Amino acid sequence: MNLEKFERYPLTFGPTPIEYLPRLTQAIGADVEIYAKRDDCNSGLAMGGNKLRKLEYLVPDAIASGADTLVSIGGVQSNHTRMVAATAAKIGMKCVVIQESWVPHDDAVYDRVGNILLTRLMGADSRLVDEGFDIGIRQSWEDAMQSVRDAGGIPYAIPAGASVHKYGGLGYVGFAEEVRAQEAEMGIKFDYVIVCCVTGSTQAGMIVGFAEDNRADKVIGIDGSGTPDQLREQMRAIVDNTAELVELGRKVRDDEIVIIPDYAYPAYGVPSQETNDAIRLAARTEAMITDPVYEGKSMQGLIDLAKKGFFPKGSKVLYAHLGGAPALNGYSYAFRNG
Ligand SMILES: Cc1ncc(COP(=O)(O)O)c(C=O)c1O
Repeated sequence: MNLEKFERYPLTFGPTPIEYLPRLTQAIGADVEIYAKRDDCNSGLAMGGNKLRKLEYLVPDAIASGADTLVSIGGVQSNHTRMVAATAAKIGMKCVVIQESWVPHDDAVYDRVGNILLTRLMGADSRLVDEGFDIGIRQSWEDAMQSVRDAGGIPYAIPAGASVHKYGGLGYVGFAEEVRAQEAEMGIKFDYVIVCCVTGSTQAGMIVGFAEDNRADKVIGIDGSGTPDQLREQMRAIVDNTAELVELGRKVRDDEIVIIPDYAYPAYGVPSQETNDAIRLAARTEAMITDPVYEGKSMQGLIDLAKKGFFPKGSKVLYAHLGGAPALNGYSYAFRNG
């Protein structure tokens, strides 16, 4: 595999810590050891998160293109658009982000707090658009690009989650390499990785990275999109493109792309009672903060799968914490009593 040939613009602190979670392990009580890799603590840029690993590989291309404005898209409480706004501020570019109404959620201050507050604070031109959820390419995003051109600017296009960008999968190939190095240092090996998936490039990168030592199928994607068929198709394409870029040397099989659709209910961005209970458990045992859109659902999946015996006894399970806590501010009513 060859990741080194791609230029990387550092936006993160470096390798993220892996920590054992003894109280969560005990609370789950299923004879599996739970660890977390803390990509939520990966950077000093506006609270960090998974998108920065991806954006590190997009920035050199953006700079080389001569662009002066990063243009991207997400929901109203998108972590991704926050991270694009942060990246633009850090590299001295302008930023336009389309924030669509992906989530049927009515918290009174939903479009004022958390991610969108930070996005505006960093100077991005954040445009609210009344369209529903879709992980694909959107007209509103194309229109935003044209509006930058019309104003004499040069846009650089970053799709939702940086996922269907040609370099979108590279960052999480690096994650797998990092885990392998940390396993060697720690003298242990993880049997499973749990990861939340929505636009697909985080897991796709991991799959390609872990295909190197034939454990791509141990990366268990917990769907947060509620549209798992579209997600699988998009992830398949990102896996193939990324595998070719890094010269994996073989085609990833369909059975190496594992997506569990069972925890996305009732809808993208809307937490179930079980999701909120999982968020509370991680907070009360480990002070590890997860959110109702993404990591709360993968935490719910982790807990439920462990309790159901999905992981053989004695397994070491690595929960990839991808960030997202700022969105909690948009869900204050759900947690008004803790
Ligand atoms: C906190 C968080 N977790 C998980 C994901 C899912 O990652 P991906 O879109 O690469 O599948 C996202 C973004 O969509 C996110 O912001």
